[in-house]
Amino acid sequence: MKALLISRDGQLYSEIASQGAARVPPLHLAGTRASLRDALDRVESDNLQLLIIDASDSEQLEAGLLERLGRQYPSAQLMLLTDHHQPDLLITAMRAGVREVLQLPLVHRAFHEAMDRIASAAGVSLMRDGKVLAFIACKGGSGATFISTNFGYALATLAAKKVLLIDLHGQFGDAALYVSDQKPSMTLSDVCAQIARVDAPFLDSCLVHVTPGFGILAAADDPAHAKDAKPEHIDTILRVARQHYDYVLLDVGRQIDAVSLRALDITETIYPVLQLALPDIRDARRLLDIFRSLGYVLDHIRLIVNRYEKGGKLRLQDLHAALGCEVMHTFPNDYIAVTDSVNQGVPVLQLSRSSAAARSLAEMVELVTARRVQESKGLLDRLFGGSA
Ligand SMILES: Nc1ncnc2c1ncn2[C@@H]1O[C@H](COP(=O)(O)OP(=O)(O)OP(=O)(O)O)[C@@H](O)[C@H]1O
Ligand SMILES: [Mg+2]
Repeated sequence: MKALLISRDGQLYSEIASQGAARVPPLHLAGTRASLRDALDRVESDNLQLLIIDASDSEQLEAGLLERLGRQYPSAQLMLLTDHHQPDLLITAMRAGVREVLQLPLVHRAFHEAMDRIASAAGVSLMRDGKVLAFIACKGGSGATFISTNFGYALATLAAKKVLLIDLHGQFGDAALYVSDQKPSMTLSDVCAQIARVDAPFLDSCLVHVTPGFGILAAADDPAHAKDAKPEHIDTILRVARQHYDYVLLDVGRQIDAVSLRALDITETIYPVLQLALPDIRDARRLLDIFRSLGYVLDHIRLIVNRYEKGGKLRLQDLHAALGCEVMHTFPNDYIAVTDSVNQGVPVLQLSRSSAAARSLAEMVELVTARRVQESKGLLDRLFGGSA
């Protein structure tokens, strides 16, 4: 949304600009004008959806000018800010079509609530339509947790996406520790226990924040509590999460139970993670058989081959032939970079930016977001420069 601020107060400008920038979608201040008259004289050419008028200088507010302003910007809504209670002012404002009147100093919560009303009246959707992607290990230790957590970090930092990862491991969930040294204060089972409270701010307060754009909801720390999560809880959490995150990643672990199945029902793409070895392929086939029996369409299932080394006895074509499922990505065997990252709890992209593992994550971000970099240099070139 674009807005014009009519005020002489530089501090108010900075306050609204920073509150506006934090909104989804953001509110941009296209400019400022010192007074109503100034706004009428110097017309803002941008298509404005909102005029914010600081009426604390009461001489500024003339009913006639306010009405003219409304006519000059017919598609903009009017918000009035005032530092004193003046019934006359309110009547003038209402007659001129002012939609919201807020007290100064600005109460941020009230500002955002008013902005929500304005945005919905302007038909601006406040909701994201997040994609749910699930990572499931075909065999223990395949690398699903390493890949999902590091991919979440890569999506947030390379593609500026807002990402939530939910650790669905029923036992020994440790996703947060792969990319952070923070101990989770709340877990999935705590959220399920307070399911009636779940909204975006509550969910956000329960996360381990790896970066401002990437949070992890940790798994229950005690297997006894893992049972607190019910399929209907997952419905609620995913519904709220999809509205507020661009990507919701699920680290499903290996168990298929009522909770993980409900999550997989809502999942857009399932990524079974396996290594190119016969035991993994056998388990992958069993997993795909379960998915087939559940009626899942194989088009929504893409394999990720981890620790892949070219020239091995088993080839990717063999895997495709054996499982009838497409390989979305291969992830290199990068022992040093991955082990350092996992041991330190620091994302590999942050710790070893030029490693093969980091490069592979950047490729995966491009594949998943189908991000076509328009510039002559691609994302990989920009990231890794000459070393590419
Ligand atoms: N591409 C890789 N290169 C080198 N080592 C890797 C790679 N991917 C994973 N590893 C190593 O394998 C170990 C197991 O990975 P991870 O914990 O991600 O597996 P998982 O599939 O989540 O297993 P679980 O079934 O226990 O949930 C990690 O600790 C990491 O050190
Ligand atoms: Mg795991």
